[in-house]
Amino acid sequence: MEVVICADYEELSAAAAGVVAGVIRGKPDAVLGLATGSTPLGLYEELVRMHAEEGLDFSQVTTFNLDEYVGLAGEHEQSYRHFMNENLFEHVNVPLERTHVPSGTAEDYCVHCRQYEQLIEQAGGIDVQVLGIGSDGHIAFNEPGTSLASRTHVTTLTEQTIRDNARFFQKKQDVPIYAVTMGVGTILEARKLLLLATGAGKADAVAAAVEGPVTSMCTASSLQLHPDAAVFLDEGAAGNLRMADYYKWIQARKPGAPRH
Ligand code: PGA
Repeated sequence: MEVVICADYEELSAAAAGVVAGVIRGKPDAVLGLATGSTPLGLYEELVRMHAEEGLDFSQVTTFNLDEYVGLAGEHEQSYRHFMNENLFEHVNVPLERTHVPSGTAEDYCVHCRQYEQLIEQAGGIDVQVLGIGSDGHIAFNEPGTSLASRTHVTTLTEQTIRDNARFFQKKQDVPIYAVTMGVGTILEARKLLLLATGAGKADAVAAAVEGPVTSMCTASSLQLHPDAAVFLDEGAAGNLRMADYYKWIQARKPGAPRH
């Protein structure tokens, strides 16, 4: 796992956007795995800027989002479909029909989850998957205890996640209790993983994910099993890492490292 400790949120967002843009430039029909939440907002802003100012072209790109709240239609202001339209899709030239977010209003979630997996497979798999991390160590909505082999499924959010996400709703009672989420197994099949975390509130979860044991109690720790995973942190989120100095040492010496 590559651990990149950035000076601040702006630097982290620009660095992560640079990786995503590099994937698109290298493969114009790239399949992007996208995340919602406050953490990737800076990354999306930077991608929008690159589209406007540098001609970063999304016309052949396909996207798959990690998750959606059960019960919220795409028009709902707090739905993740709405979030993606507002913060990225409407500001770049990705064809909307090539953007996929799980449905929060499926008639049969078993069928829907299976179809979502099939769509990812038919698209050729995900080239780069953007991830946030929950304060309970979740990736997507894979809460503690979720199988590391899980596929797209319906999950019950923890009370902590509901509390964390209540800031986006008028009151805590409005936060949905269930969600559709890609599974950990689904996420681990992406060819490249990019986890972003910012602020001291994430420091414990990040330390558990990066330096703790691989365990379903912190589903982000599954990144340790992935051959191409990078974690972009600011100083706050990196605050509890035992090997922080070593990660910085590696980054500082990267330009001179032999090609590998
Ligand atoms: P956040 O959410 O980016 O809003 O902190 C992260 C997550 O729960 O995955």
